[in-house]
Amino acid sequence: MSKNFDVVVIGGGPGGYIAAIRAAQLGFSTACVDEWKNEKGGPAPGGTCTNVGCIPSKALLQSSEHYDHASHAFAEHGIEVKGLSLNLAQMLGRKNTVVKQNNDGILYLFKKNKVTFFHGRGAFVKGDANGYEIKVSGAAEESITGKHIIVATGSNARALPGAAFDENLILSNTGALAITEVPKKLGVIGAGVIGLEMGSVWRRLGSEVTVLEALPTFLGAVDEQIAKEAHKLLVKQGLSINLGVKIGDIKAGKKDVAVTYVDDKGTEHKAVFDKLIVSIGRTPNTTGLNAETIGLKLDERGFIAVDGDCKTNLPNVWAVGDVVRGPMLAHKAEEEGVAVAERIAGQHGHVNFNTIPWVIYTSPEIAWVGKTEQQLKADGIAYKAGTFPFLANGRARALGDTSGMVKFLADAKTDEILGVHIVGPVASELISEAVVAMEFRASAEDIARICHAHPSLSEATKEAALAVDKRALNF
Ligand code: FAD
Ligand code: NAI
Repeated sequence: MSKNFDVVVIGGGPGGYIAAIRAAQLGFSTACVDEWKNEKGGPAPGGTCTNVGCIPSKALLQSSEHYDHASHAFAEHGIEVKGLSLNLAQMLGRKNTVVKQNNDGILYLFKKNKVTFFHGRGAFVKGDANGYEIKVSGAAEESITGKHIIVATGSNARALPGAAFDENLILSNTGALAITEVPKKLGVIGAGVIGLEMGSVWRRLGSEVTVLEALPTFLGAVDEQIAKEAHKLLVKQGLSINLGVKIGDIKAGKKDVAVTYVDDKGTEHKAVFDKLIVSIGRTPNTTGLNAETIGLKLDERGFIAVDGDCKTNLPNVWAVGDVVRGPMLAHKAEEEGVAVAERIAGQHGHVNFNTIPWVIYTSPEIAWVGKTEQQLKADGIAYKAGTFPFLANGRARALGDTSGMVKFLADAKTDEILGVHIVGPVASELISEAVVAMEFRASAEDIARICHAHPSLSEATKEAALAVDKRALNF
């Protein structure tokens, strides 16, 4: 087996494995080095996303939603369930199977595309524009070289000072996805994406969930109107969301965790939880890469410093995904991976940061692309807004899921779509139409004039586009 490659990718998450596949498609001899181990010590490529992120969280969100529906929603449809019970071990087992299917899928794709996979930690040894030596430390130690190196080493959960993750009582995303008994009282620090998704999973399964958030506003990056609606719906479901709190001491005992905090009115509280999830953001992972020795520059926050093309300060060394600036999203990492492979091939890979969609997979889902109303106001851009509630959508009524709305923001003069914001059923899928429209620089009228299937949730998108011109038909 050759040990000299055109491209060596360090990290096999969505940024790395996709970069490797694209590089191989472009005709480069390509290796991907990834250290993630499954419970048997074998390779488990796919990174955070596949192993302890996007995929297992969505598996548990789906399972817990089924359970929630069986407990609360089926009766309205005339389906009576007697003796409903939860088999959590089966639910977690199914999640693990879904993860393994994805791990195996990536190994299959490597074979299919002739990407050589190395299971172990990759570290820079030496190199220059002519190539770099990478030491792989796994079951065996070996040395490989690459003319181009793509670093895609991802991110890790950020711990609170004095409250290290033990994954038993104080949980990062890893522990939050593997709780073996539904906690009676679950604390969540951070009302961000992980806090709301994992809080929703365990609430649906029976936990009393208390979310403690430092900021005074709920989901500050989300369009205010949408965030307000989402807050109302999540609180109604039973999530206790406390904004503007200041976390004090966190003390793990034998069976529970005590958290002291001061609320937004200045009152001190002590809460005791059976489990505590800390989801206060993630930090870039450059551990063990040997970045300092090789002279790979990091920025002041520890991310690998890159330019707009994902080039680092070292010739022919690139970095993509969570380990570089920008949103920590799997699809952003993938797009960067593809763009870098294409740039290595002399092509013009491009990532449009203005059209990266965001989705929070609560129920209802929250999804958006482009500018929020508060951003447009701050930037002094004149805009028109149109909203349409799912309450007035026939398909949503038939589904029994009428919460939320679609909101369009369009330029006041040109009608170009500047942002689309959705809280509602399957918002994760509906947002794609808005992304396509914005990529093609469509106007709200373009969407309003396109024929949408009836009855479908996407008609709410069309109606919101019509509402920009104050001519919604069904509301
Ligand atoms: P990672 O996926 O972190 O992969 C990095 C890989 O590199 C890992 O396998 C790691 O072991 C390996 N590695 C690191 N250093 C080395 C080394 N020196 N040598 C060899 N291997 C190394 N994003 C979404 O878009 N949608 C979602 O629904 C979503 N849900 C999420 C849910 C949770 C609970 C979490 C935690 C994250 C979620 N994310 C989601 C974010 C998403 O997981 C990340 O943005 C994405 O995984 C980043 O991809 P990456 O390739 O940059 O890094
Ligand atoms: P986050 O950035 O989404 O949210 C962190 C929250 O914690 C913020 O609201 C922040 O104000 C709060 N916070 C920070 N310090 C705090 C403190 N000391 N006390 C109380 N609150 C504090 O980060 P999160 O949820 O950890 O997720 C990390 C990233 O993973 C996300 O930003 C996202 O990029 C990615 N992700 C994406 C998902 C998706 O696309 N559906 C799902 C889950 C994660």
